[in-house]
Amino acid sequence: MESASVRASTEDFRSAMRCFPTGVTIVTTAHEGRIHGFTVNAFASVSAEPPMVLICVNRAARAHPLITISQRFCANILALEQRALAERFAGGEPHSRFEGVDYRLGPSGSPILAGTLAHVDCELTEELTASTHTIFLGTVLEAGHREGAPLGYFDRAYRDFGIGV
Ligand SMILES: Cc1cc2nc3c(=O)[nH]c(=O)nc-3n(C[C@H](O)[C@H](O)[C@H](O)COP(=O)(O)O)c2cc1C
Repeated sequence: MESASVRASTEDFRSAMRCFPTGVTIVTTAHEGRIHGFTVNAFASVSAEPPMVLICVNRAARAHPLITISQRFCANILALEQRALAERFAGGEPHSRFEGVDYRLGPSGSPILAGTLAHVDCELTEELTASTHTIFLGTVLEAGHREGAPLGYFDRAYRDFGIGV
């Protein structure tokens, strides 16, 4: 099929995507003893058998080469009360992001943060290049959850969706 000659404007595209509510994760990885984490909301379930998820990562992110090299990542799904962590892991100096944060290393070797609503710890199954981003597909080695309310994100702001399990 020929590629379409018409494209939505970046502005229209961004305005449309702002209408899509999501949760918020901190994706972590580790390579040669160095841990890294960053805030991600481009996260989705792919299949249950086998258990697979995807994340979309900007190729300019420091996390990008680390995930490619380590072949591992963990998506930590944040609870409502963890908004400060979402903000911290979206900027600043990466080495200070984990200061005062409790975590354990999962089967993949990636940090599983304490107090999250859920986590899926993954080994990398496939990398798909998509313009400025890479889609990382992960097979889930360990999944866990607890009861609580999720941190939401909608229209460029963190939200309380008023829901919980
Ligand atoms: C709510 C929110 C969601 C984000 N989602 C993503 C995402 O899905 N993929 C991505 O590459 N960056 C995303 N970012 C941006 C990264 O968190 C940010 O660029 C971070 O500083 C990258 O860290 P690093 O370069 O140290 O790896 C998001 C930021 C925020 C605030």
